[in-house]
Amino acid sequence: MKIGDENEPDLSARTFLNDVLIGLSHQSKYLPAKWFYDHTGAKLFEKICDVPEYYLTRTEREILETAAPDIARELGSSAVLIEYGSGAMTKVRLVLDAIDKPYAFVAVDIVSGQLEQAAADLEAAYPELRVQTIATDFTNDFSLPDWLHSAGRCCVFFPGSTIGNFEPGEIKEFLQRLHRTVDENGALLIGVDLKKDRKRLEAAYNDSLGLTALFNKNILRRINHELDGDICINSFQHLAWYNSSKGRVEMHLRSCLDQNLNIAGQEFHFRAGETIHTENCYKFTVPEFQSIATDSGFRPVQVWTDKDNLFSIHLFDAN
Ligand code: AVI
Repeated sequence: MKIGDENEPDLSARTFLNDVLIGLSHQSKYLPAKWFYDHTGAKLFEKICDVPEYYLTRTEREILETAAPDIARELGSSAVLIEYGSGAMTKVRLVLDAIDKPYAFVAVDIVSGQLEQAAADLEAAYPELRVQTIATDFTNDFSLPDWLHSAGRCCVFFPGSTIGNFEPGEIKEFLQRLHRTVDENGALLIGVDLKKDRKRLEAAYNDSLGLTALFNKNILRRINHELDGDICINSFQHLAWYNSSKGRVEMHLRSCLDQNLNIAGQEFHFRAGETIHTENCYKFTVPEFQSIATDSGFRPVQVWTDKDNLFSIHLFDAN
Protein backbone atom coordinates (compact mmCIF):
# COMPACT_ATOMS: atom_id res chain seq x y z
CA MET A 1 0.00 0.00 0.00
CA LYS A 2 1.27 3.46 -0.67
CA ILE A 3 0.11 6.99 -0.18
CA GLY A 4 2.11 9.94 -1.41
CA ASP A 5 2.84 12.96 -3.49
CA GLU A 6 5.22 11.37 -5.99
CA ASN A 7 2.78 12.17 -8.79
CA GLU A 8 3.13 15.83 -8.02
CA PRO A 9 6.78 16.53 -8.90
CA ASP A 10 5.87 20.04 -10.08
CA LEU A 11 4.66 20.91 -6.62
CA SER A 12 7.89 19.66 -5.09
CA ALA A 13 9.99 21.58 -7.67
CA ARG A 14 8.03 24.77 -6.95
CA THR A 15 8.53 24.38 -3.21
CA PHE A 16 12.26 23.73 -3.71
CA LEU A 17 12.58 26.82 -5.92
CA ASN A 18 10.64 28.91 -3.46
CA ASP A 19 12.81 27.80 -0.53
CA VAL A 20 16.03 28.43 -2.49
CA LEU A 21 14.96 31.91 -3.62
CA ILE A 22 13.89 32.88 -0.10
CA GLY A 23 16.98 31.39 1.60
CA LEU A 24 19.53 32.91 -0.76
CA SER A 25 17.85 36.33 -0.70
CA HIS A 26 18.13 36.46 3.10
CA GLN A 27 20.78 38.70 4.60
CA SER A 28 22.46 35.63 6.15
CA LYS A 29 22.06 33.11 3.36
CA TYR A 30 20.59 29.72 4.28
CA LEU A 31 18.98 26.66 2.68
CA PRO A 32 16.63 24.20 4.44
CA ALA A 33 18.42 20.91 5.14
CA LYS A 34 15.50 18.80 3.90
CA TRP A 35 16.62 19.55 0.33
CA PHE A 36 19.76 17.44 0.82
CA TYR A 37 17.62 14.36 0.35
CA ASP A 38 17.07 13.40 -3.26
CA HIS A 39 18.14 9.91 -4.36
CA THR A 40 21.84 10.91 -4.40
CA GLY A 41 21.61 12.68 -1.04
CA ALA A 42 19.87 9.73 0.57
CA LYS A 43 22.58 7.36 -0.73
CA LEU A 44 25.32 9.70 0.51
CA PHE A 45 23.68 9.88 3.92
CA GLU A 46 23.57 6.08 4.08
CA LYS A 47 27.32 6.02 3.38
CA ILE A 48 27.98 8.70 6.02
CA CYS A 49 26.26 6.43 8.54
CA ASP A 50 29.04 3.87 7.98
CA VAL A 51 32.11 6.13 8.24
CA PRO A 52 34.15 5.61 11.42
CA GLU A 53 33.84 9.24 12.58
CA TYR A 54 30.01 9.26 12.38
CA TYR A 55 29.42 7.41 15.65
CA LEU A 56 25.67 8.18 15.75
CA THR A 57 24.26 5.33 13.63
CA ARG A 58 26.53 2.59 14.93
CA THR A 59 26.02 3.62 18.55
CA GLU A 60 22.26 3.87 18.18
CA ARG A 61 22.17 0.37 16.68
CA GLU A 62 24.20 -1.00 19.59
CA ILE A 63 21.84 0.60 22.10
CA LEU A 64 18.76 -0.65 20.21
CA GLU A 65 20.11 -4.20 20.18
CA THR A 66 20.35 -4.12 23.99
CA ALA A 67 17.13 -2.21 24.58
CA ALA A 68 14.87 -4.08 22.13
CA PRO A 69 13.51 -6.67 24.62
CA ASP A 70 12.57 -3.90 27.12
CA ILE A 71 11.00 -1.82 24.35
CA ALA A 72 9.00 -4.83 23.15
CA ARG A 73 7.75 -5.50 26.68
CA GLU A 74 6.57 -1.90 27.04
CA LEU A 75 4.82 -1.87 23.65
CA GLY A 76 3.12 -5.23 24.10
CA SER A 77 1.59 -7.50 21.49
CA SER A 78 0.37 -6.39 18.00
CA ALA A 79 1.97 -2.96 18.17
CA VAL A 80 2.03 -0.60 15.18
CA LEU A 81 5.26 1.25 14.43
CA ILE A 82 5.29 4.49 12.41
CA GLU A 83 8.76 5.54 11.35
CA TYR A 84 9.36 9.17 10.36
CA GLY A 85 12.23 9.42 7.86
CA SER A 86 12.39 5.66 7.38
CA GLY A 87 15.36 5.66 4.93
CA ALA A 88 16.71 2.14 4.41
CA MET A 89 14.42 0.73 7.17
CA THR A 90 17.23 -1.22 8.81
CA LYS A 91 17.06 -0.02 12.43
CA VAL A 92 13.35 -0.75 12.73
CA ARG A 93 14.06 -4.43 12.12
CA LEU A 94 15.77 -4.61 15.52
CA VAL A 95 12.52 -3.46 17.15
CA LEU A 96 10.24 -5.54 14.90
CA ASP A 97 12.27 -8.66 15.68
CA ALA A 98 11.69 -8.17 19.41
CA ILE A 99 7.96 -7.27 19.36
CA ASP A 100 5.36 -10.01 19.77
CA LYS A 101 3.35 -10.23 16.49
CA PRO A 102 3.92 -6.66 15.24
CA TYR A 103 0.67 -5.64 13.52
CA ALA A 104 1.88 -3.07 10.99
CA PHE A 105 4.69 -0.76 9.98
CA VAL A 106 4.04 2.65 8.45
CA ALA A 107 7.08 4.17 6.71
CA VAL A 108 7.10 7.91 6.05
CA ASP A 109 9.87 9.40 3.90
CA ILE A 110 10.45 12.24 1.45
CA VAL A 111 12.52 10.09 -0.99
CA SER A 112 9.81 8.01 -2.69
CA GLY A 113 12.11 5.74 -4.79
CA GLN A 114 14.12 4.59 -1.78
CA LEU A 115 10.90 4.30 0.23
CA GLU A 116 9.32 1.80 -2.18
CA GLN A 117 12.49 -0.28 -2.53
CA ALA A 118 13.12 -0.44 1.22
CA ALA A 119 9.44 -1.30 1.86
CA ALA A 120 9.56 -4.12 -0.70
CA ASP A 121 12.67 -5.53 1.01
CA LEU A 122 10.98 -5.28 4.40
CA GLU A 123 7.80 -6.97 3.17
CA ALA A 124 9.88 -9.82 1.79
CA ALA A 125 11.62 -10.27 5.13
CA TYR A 126 8.41 -9.94 7.21
CA PRO A 127 5.61 -11.56 5.17
CA GLU A 128 3.11 -11.34 8.05
CA LEU A 129 3.60 -7.60 8.56
CA ARG A 130 1.31 -4.99 6.95
CA VAL A 131 3.64 -2.38 5.45
CA GLN A 132 2.30 0.99 4.37
CA THR A 133 4.43 3.71 2.76
CA ILE A 134 3.70 7.43 2.82
CA ALA A 135 5.88 9.48 0.46
CA THR A 136 5.83 12.94 1.95
CA ASP A 137 7.78 15.57 3.81
CA PHE A 138 6.95 14.60 7.39
CA THR A 139 7.39 18.16 8.62
CA ASN A 140 4.07 18.92 6.91
CA ASP A 141 0.68 17.58 7.96
CA PHE A 142 -0.35 14.33 6.28
CA SER A 143 -3.04 11.74 6.93
CA LEU A 144 -2.44 8.32 8.38
CA PRO A 145 -4.56 5.23 7.69
CA ASP A 146 -7.77 4.88 9.73
CA TRP A 147 -6.98 1.33 10.85
CA LEU A 148 -3.93 2.61 12.76
CA HIS A 149 -5.67 2.62 16.12
CA SER A 150 -7.50 -0.69 15.72
CA ALA A 151 -4.52 -2.89 16.67
CA GLY A 152 -2.20 -2.78 19.68
CA ARG A 153 -0.25 0.25 20.87
CA CYS A 154 0.79 2.75 18.26
CA CYS A 155 4.41 3.94 18.55
CA VAL A 156 6.19 6.61 16.54
CA PHE A 157 9.77 5.53 15.85
CA PHE A 158 12.03 8.50 15.15
CA PRO A 159 15.65 7.32 15.23
CA GLY A 160 18.93 8.86 14.12
CA SER A 161 18.68 12.11 16.07
CA THR A 162 16.79 13.69 13.20
CA ILE A 163 14.97 15.64 15.92
CA GLY A 164 18.28 17.53 16.26
CA ASN A 165 17.75 18.99 12.78
CA PHE A 166 14.68 20.91 14.02
CA GLU A 167 15.05 24.41 15.44
CA PRO A 168 14.31 24.68 19.19
CA GLY A 169 11.14 26.67 18.45
CA GLU A 170 9.87 23.92 16.10
CA ILE A 171 10.56 20.86 18.25
CA LYS A 172 7.68 21.28 20.67
CA GLU A 173 5.13 21.76 17.91
CA PHE A 174 6.46 18.71 16.08
CA LEU A 175 6.43 16.51 19.20
CA GLN A 176 2.90 17.68 19.97
CA ARG A 177 1.91 16.57 16.48
CA LEU A 178 3.46 13.14 17.12
CA HIS A 179 1.54 13.04 20.39
CA ARG A 180 -1.76 13.63 18.56
CA THR A 181 -0.79 10.96 16.00
CA VAL A 182 -0.36 8.12 18.49
CA ASP A 183 -3.38 8.96 20.75
CA GLU A 184 -3.27 8.58 24.54
CA ASN A 185 -2.41 4.88 24.51
CA GLY A 186 0.56 5.45 22.23
CA ALA A 187 4.31 5.86 22.62
CA LEU A 188 7.34 7.58 21.15
CA LEU A 189 10.69 5.84 20.64
CA ILE A 190 13.26 8.43 19.67
CA GLY A 191 17.04 8.54 19.15
CA VAL A 192 18.78 11.67 20.45
CA ASP A 193 22.46 12.55 20.08
CA LEU A 194 24.12 13.76 23.28
CA LYS A 195 26.29 16.78 24.03
CA LYS A 196 29.95 15.81 24.16
CA ASP A 197 33.46 17.10 23.46
CA ARG A 198 33.91 19.37 20.46
CA LYS A 199 36.61 17.19 18.88
CA ARG A 200 34.35 14.16 18.57
CA LEU A 201 31.40 16.19 17.31
CA GLU A 202 33.39 18.07 14.71
CA ALA A 203 35.06 14.88 13.44
CA ALA A 204 31.61 13.32 12.88
CA TYR A 205 30.69 16.13 10.47
CA ASN A 206 34.10 16.41 8.77
CA ASP A 207 34.79 12.78 7.87
CA SER A 208 38.14 12.03 6.26
CA LEU A 209 36.53 10.42 3.19
CA GLY A 210 34.82 13.73 2.42
CA LEU A 211 31.33 12.18 2.24
CA THR A 212 29.76 14.85 4.45
CA ALA A 213 31.27 17.50 2.19
CA LEU A 214 29.68 15.80 -0.85
CA PHE A 215 26.38 15.51 1.03
CA ASN A 216 26.46 19.21 1.88
CA LYS A 217 27.30 20.16 -1.71
CA ASN A 218 24.54 17.89 -3.03
CA ILE A 219 22.13 20.74 -2.42
CA LEU A 220 24.11 22.87 -4.92
CA ARG A 221 24.13 20.01 -7.42
CA ARG A 222 20.34 19.77 -7.07
CA ILE A 223 19.97 23.51 -7.64
CA ASN A 224 22.00 23.22 -10.86
CA HIS A 225 20.06 20.19 -12.13
CA GLU A 226 16.55 20.96 -10.98
CA LEU A 227 16.43 24.76 -10.88
CA ASP A 228 18.58 25.64 -13.84
CA GLY A 229 21.46 26.93 -11.70
CA ASP A 230 24.99 27.71 -12.91
CA ILE A 231 26.83 27.18 -9.62
CA CYS A 232 30.48 26.12 -9.82
CA ILE A 233 30.29 23.57 -7.03
CA ASN A 234 34.05 23.57 -6.48
CA SER A 235 33.92 27.28 -5.69
CA PHE A 236 32.22 26.32 -2.39
CA GLN A 237 33.89 24.70 0.60
CA HIS A 238 32.19 22.46 3.16
CA LEU A 239 32.43 23.73 6.75
CA ALA A 240 31.10 22.16 9.95
CA TRP A 241 31.80 23.24 13.52
CA TYR A 242 30.31 22.94 17.00
CA ASN A 243 28.65 26.10 18.23
CA SER A 244 28.76 25.31 21.95
CA SER A 245 26.70 28.31 23.06
CA LYS A 246 23.83 27.08 20.87
CA GLY A 247 24.50 23.36 21.51
CA ARG A 248 24.60 22.55 17.80
CA VAL A 249 26.88 21.48 14.98
CA GLU A 250 26.43 23.94 12.12
CA MET A 251 27.02 23.05 8.49
CA HIS A 252 27.81 25.76 5.97
CA LEU A 253 28.95 26.12 2.37
CA ARG A 254 31.55 28.87 2.06
CA SER A 255 32.08 30.74 -1.18
CA CYS A 256 35.82 30.70 -1.92
CA LEU A 257 35.52 33.77 -4.16
CA ASP A 258 33.53 36.87 -4.93
CA GLN A 259 30.99 35.67 -7.49
CA ASN A 260 27.54 36.00 -9.04
CA LEU A 261 25.33 32.94 -9.51
CA ASN A 262 22.19 32.47 -11.54
CA ILE A 263 19.30 30.31 -10.42
CA ALA A 264 16.06 30.07 -12.41
CA GLY A 265 16.92 33.39 -14.07
CA GLN A 266 17.70 35.24 -10.84
CA GLU A 267 21.16 36.51 -9.93
CA PHE A 268 22.71 36.15 -6.47
CA HIS A 269 25.90 37.79 -5.31
CA PHE A 270 28.36 36.03 -2.97
CA ARG A 271 31.26 37.76 -1.25
CA ALA A 272 34.45 35.70 -0.85
CA GLY A 273 34.13 33.95 2.53
CA GLU A 274 30.34 34.38 2.72
CA THR A 275 28.53 31.19 3.74
CA ILE A 276 25.20 29.51 3.10
CA HIS A 277 24.01 27.98 6.37
CA THR A 278 22.69 24.57 5.34
CA GLU A 279 22.04 22.59 8.53
CA ASN A 280 21.92 22.65 12.31
CA CYS A 281 22.36 19.43 14.29
CA TYR A 282 21.34 20.13 17.89
CA LYS A 283 22.75 18.00 20.70
CA PHE A 284 21.06 17.49 24.08
CA THR A 285 21.63 16.19 27.57
CA VAL A 286 19.18 13.49 28.71
CA PRO A 287 17.37 15.86 31.14
CA GLU A 288 17.20 18.61 28.49
CA PHE A 289 15.46 16.31 26.04
CA GLN A 290 13.15 14.80 28.65
CA SER A 291 12.06 18.26 29.66
CA ILE A 292 11.21 19.23 26.03
CA ALA A 293 9.25 16.00 25.51
CA THR A 294 7.42 16.41 28.82
CA ASP A 295 6.42 19.95 27.82
CA SER A 296 5.00 18.43 24.62
CA GLY A 297 2.76 15.99 26.51
CA PHE A 298 4.95 12.88 26.75
CA ARG A 299 5.92 10.98 29.91
CA PRO A 300 9.44 9.52 30.13
CA VAL A 301 9.38 5.73 30.56
CA GLN A 302 12.99 4.69 30.03
CA VAL A 303 16.27 5.98 28.55
CA TRP A 304 19.13 3.87 27.26
CA THR A 305 22.64 5.17 26.54
CA ASP A 306 25.92 3.55 25.51
CA LYS A 307 28.83 3.15 27.88
CA ASP A 308 30.59 6.26 26.55
CA ASN A 309 27.44 8.40 26.81
CA LEU A 310 27.53 9.32 23.14
CA PHE A 311 23.91 8.70 22.21
CA SER A 312 20.52 8.10 23.85
CA ILE A 313 17.29 6.30 23.01
CA HIS A 314 14.19 7.46 24.86
CA LEU A 315 10.87 5.73 25.26
CA PHE A 316 7.97 8.01 26.17
CA ASP A 317 4.34 7.23 26.85
CA ALA A 318 1.71 9.56 25.48
CA ASN A 319 -0.38 9.49 28.65
C1 AVI B 1 19.77 13.20 9.50
N1 AVI B 1 20.54 13.85 10.58
C2 AVI B 1 20.22 13.26 11.86
C3 AVI B 1 21.99 13.93 10.33
C4 AVI B 1 22.67 14.64 11.53
O1 AVI B 1 23.67 14.13 12.00
O2 AVI B 1 22.16 15.67 11.97
C5 AVI B 1 22.28 14.66 9.04
C6 AVI B 1 23.73 14.81 8.77
N2 AVI B 1 24.32 15.93 8.41
C7 AVI B 1 25.60 15.72 8.23
N3 AVI B 1 25.87 14.47 8.52
C8 AVI B 1 24.71 13.88 8.84
